[in-house]
Amino acid sequence: MCGIIAYSGHQAATPIILDGLRRLAYRGYDSAGIAFTQRGEIHVIKTPGKLEALVDKVAASDNPMLATCGMGHTRWATHGVPNQVNAHPHLSSGGEFALVHNGIIENYREIKAELTAKGYTFLSETDTEVLLDLIAEYRKSSPDTLTAFQRAVLRADGAYALVLTSRDEPEAVYATRKNAPLVAGVGVGENFVSSDITAFLSHTRKVIFLDEGDIIRITPDTYQVFRVEDLAPATKAVQHIEWDIQSARKGGYKHFMLKEIFEQPLVLRSALAGRIAPDWSGVLLPEMNEREILRRPGRVRIVACGTSYNAGLWASSLIETWGGVPCSVEIASEFRYRKPLLERDELVILISQSGETADTLAALKVARECDCSSLGLCNVVGSSLAREADTIIYTQAGPEISVASTKALCSQMALLTLLAMYWGERRGRFAAGELKTLLAEFAALPDYLEKQLPQMLEEAKGFAVRTASFHNVFFLGRGRNCALAMEGALKLKELSYIHAEAYAAGEMKHGPIALINPDFLTIALIPHDGHYAKAYSNIQEVAARSGPIMAITEKSDDPSVTLDWAEMYWHIPAANDPFTSFLLLPMLQLLSYEAATYLGKDVDQPRNLAKSVTVE
Ligand code: M6R
Repeated sequence: MCGIIAYSGHQAATPIILDGLRRLAYRGYDSAGIAFTQRGEIHVIKTPGKLEALVDKVAASDNPMLATCGMGHTRWATHGVPNQVNAHPHLSSGGEFALVHNGIIENYREIKAELTAKGYTFLSETDTEVLLDLIAEYRKSSPDTLTAFQRAVLRADGAYALVLTSRDEPEAVYATRKNAPLVAGVGVGENFVSSDITAFLSHTRKVIFLDEGDIIRITPDTYQVFRVEDLAPATKAVQHIEWDIQSARKGGYKHFMLKEIFEQPLVLRSALAGRIAPDWSGVLLPEMNEREILRRPGRVRIVACGTSYNAGLWASSLIETWGGVPCSVEIASEFRYRKPLLERDELVILISQSGETADTLAALKVARECDCSSLGLCNVVGSSLAREADTIIYTQAGPEISVASTKALCSQMALLTLLAMYWGERRGRFAAGELKTLLAEFAALPDYLEKQLPQMLEEAKGFAVRTASFHNVFFLGRGRNCALAMEGALKLKELSYIHAEAYAAGEMKHGPIALINPDFLTIALIPHDGHYAKAYSNIQEVAARSGPIMAITEKSDDPSVTLDWAEMYWHIPAANDPFTSFLLLPMLQLLSYEAATYLGKDVDQPRNLAKSVTVE
């Protein structure tokens, strides 16, 4: 959840670390800090608040900051309120070590009691400070820092990425990970460790993906990797990253979120590139050739969190109707603890933009324990999901920086649509020429969406101002639009903090309709698909109770179809089901984006959220 960057090289470390932290701010932003060793002493500068507060504090410091090695941390609080004392880095009681940490040490209370009995006292409420003093304690009876670090790590239960520096080795950085991301960057005369490649990508494209239980020690000119169990040296491949750092910047847009919404045509092009047979006869998914269960699963179970879960919900009906495969969708945090009954012929699909979501990774372990095959749908190359799932399909949406997920969902929906087509093709579910027509329409979608987006943005502004005047909003839809309603409500609440709920439109009359009054807005998603007539009737029930309605639907040539019952109507550009969803989705994203900016909210970093939820 937190962001970590460490540097060891020949340049001044502080500016490099602060620059890295800027790129990591999406991972947590309630406090930040840096540590470096200078003239035989570890210096720590930290502060609550966003990174700019730390930058100001560093600028105001009279410390010459000559160190060429150090580390930084941007925090998303798990233990203790976000204040100065709880901010990272932490300094050991004797000042000999500094530690930053992403994750949770589950048995820290037990370790704390043990250390307290030995006379240690703690300044902060954090589990991190406890582990740090355990390292210091173990150092007294260990031949070196590496061994002390290893012994402490072996004691720690939970999930963590840890980076340690030592007063006695001013050029060395030690790091390890378990169920939390950490990568190393290999430069010329400089090396890095970070939660995310983007933090050091402007310095080096050479990367080592650390496995669970790896301990790395870097200095300016060396890196060594050891296994935590026995400190045996481990050989790691150095990989070359092709990403463009520019794609991780705002590119002229006011916010990353807006940029990412506008990147969706590109995302669709990437998702489709090389995936459609040249003669339009079928879908090409070479990843699926690995095993028979991928080609012909008996059932599909999709497990994910948040927006990625909504992608699964959206696709489940397509996987059944087109693919001919029974499909259920579950929230990962529930799935992991409910001892699910999984059949051996069941394919478990884990969807995650980051590939680091703790609950989704735990769900993957459950699937493995049940001997089920797993397929990961993931955006981040080299992430934990990418490495641990049996098979991985990358969604190729490019770096998503805004905490609110937008383009990643578009890419997930596109890949899931292709999967449904792929299975349907193998099960003979399509009539002659049907798949060809669908693929042609899908392939035309990126250009079509690109043309519509500027107008959608303009239209969203007016609807957003009215939406922002409400404290309560329902999003209603049926079928796939119910999943989009859930996404619309999630986006509105996480960005604008307006209370928003989604319901299957047919459920309204079973209770929720009691809430309808002139101050409760209903946003009705009623495109002209197979559910239109029924959904239309459900919305009339809201209108009959004086509930204000924003109808999102296509223009109709039928004069009997009136929208005079709606206070506002917003027209979806014409397309066929299910491709309409790829147009409806950015409309909902833009509505929330505009409502949040109108209300002056922090769009890219909404309160209380983190981009990558690596704790359960
Ligand atoms: O990285 P993941 O796709 O696994 O993340 C899942 C959720 O944490 C994420 O979608 C979250 O709901 C976002 N805030 C949605 O905008």
